[in-house]
Amino acid sequence: MTPNPRIPGRRFLHSPGPTPLPDAVLQAMGVQPMDLADPRVDDCITACEEGLQRLMATTGDVFLYASNGHGVWEAVVENVADVGASVLVPGTGVFSEGWAVQTEALGRRVVRTPVHEGGPLDAAAVEQVLRDDRDHLIQAVFAVHIDTSTSVTSDLAAVRRAIDAAGHPALLVADVVASLGAAPFAMDALGVDVALGASQKGLMCPPGAGFVAVNQRAFARAEANPAPRFYWDWVHRRHNASYRKYCGTPPLNLLFGMRAALDLIFTEGLDAVHARHALLASAVHAAVEGWREGGAVDFYARDPATRSVSVTTVTLAEQVDALALRTLARERFQVAMAGGLGPLQDRAFRIGHLGDCNAAMILGALGGIEAALISMGVPVGAGGVQRAVRALARATA
Ligand SMILES: Cc1ncc(COP(=O)(O)O)c(C=O)c1O
Repeated sequence: MTPNPRIPGRRFLHSPGPTPLPDAVLQAMGVQPMDLADPRVDDCITACEEGLQRLMATTGDVFLYASNGHGVWEAVVENVADVGASVLVPGTGVFSEGWAVQTEALGRRVVRTPVHEGGPLDAAAVEQVLRDDRDHLIQAVFAVHIDTSTSVTSDLAAVRRAIDAAGHPALLVADVVASLGAAPFAMDALGVDVALGASQKGLMCPPGAGFVAVNQRAFARAEANPAPRFYWDWVHRRHNASYRKYCGTPPLNLLFGMRAALDLIFTEGLDAVHARHALLASAVHAAVEGWREGGAVDFYARDPATRSVSVTTVTLAEQVDALALRTLARERFQVAMAGGLGPLQDRAFRIGHLGDCNAAMILGALGGIEAALISMGVPVGAGGVQRAVRALARATA
């Protein structure tokens, strides 16, 4: 299908990142950059750091990078693990495996626990691996909160309990790239030592800013870690001067946008933001419940309790051409979704429902997806969208 050069109306962006940008974020970014000595620059940086601390419920240091999520994965590896040391990466899906592969490429050893199809990470297996590591060679556990490929949420508290039960000193690092600003996450209360995120999902900003929050224990590990590094180094970046904090010029306009996005989140109220995500996810899940009655689509996440509030991975029967379906949804019905990843490549589509999103947008997106499924001759049961309408109507009654 040839893309039409004109997109009528507004296209619904429902990939799980990048997500749509609120007008306030676009406007905040659409200004001239400033000279780095302008006090407005420092004000903005402080607002972003404090806002991210508040969002992650931590008193730890925040380090912001001109980078994407892969960049902050690298920052974590370089700071918490020595070259040749070991890290445990519990299997969740494509994103745990991507982080594991990157960690190995940086000269660290990786111990993995198996990915359970359609399920969350296996905290019992984490505990067993750590119990077996009697010499404490494993320096950190890298856990993905919501794996965007499977759309399954894992229980970070269970990982904390597993580390404690094994009496192991490994640091707990959480990837909250796909959960922050959508699902509740309280870093300090959970006993997470390092959390990492990126700008383009629940934070409603363009891609290009990655960040970590680091508690004292993890910072001390970085200080003692002899691994060679510079750009990513937390010790080097803990400084008042913005040029030093960013190891060069800060990504100013992105930070202006991030400050505006954080303002939006706190104006709405963090609990309200989480409740909105839970509600919209329930509408998407209701629609998929309806579609799956036709026998050709299904949830990938098996346990409804683990289905994420930010993205839903929908599997397709073998005869359905997943790429054609997404192309049709995007080009004819103006709903842009993401495709399946890893073993789900060509077998699934993923609906993003995080960030700057409301009930009408979700219903529009689900309507476009249902229309695309029907146009392709995919049996969709009796009314997925109807169920989503009812789920929303019931909840707001
Ligand atoms: C959970 C998770 N971690 C890490 C990443 C990597 O982020 P980036 O694509 O910005 O490098 C992603 C990207 O989608 C993700 O979903």
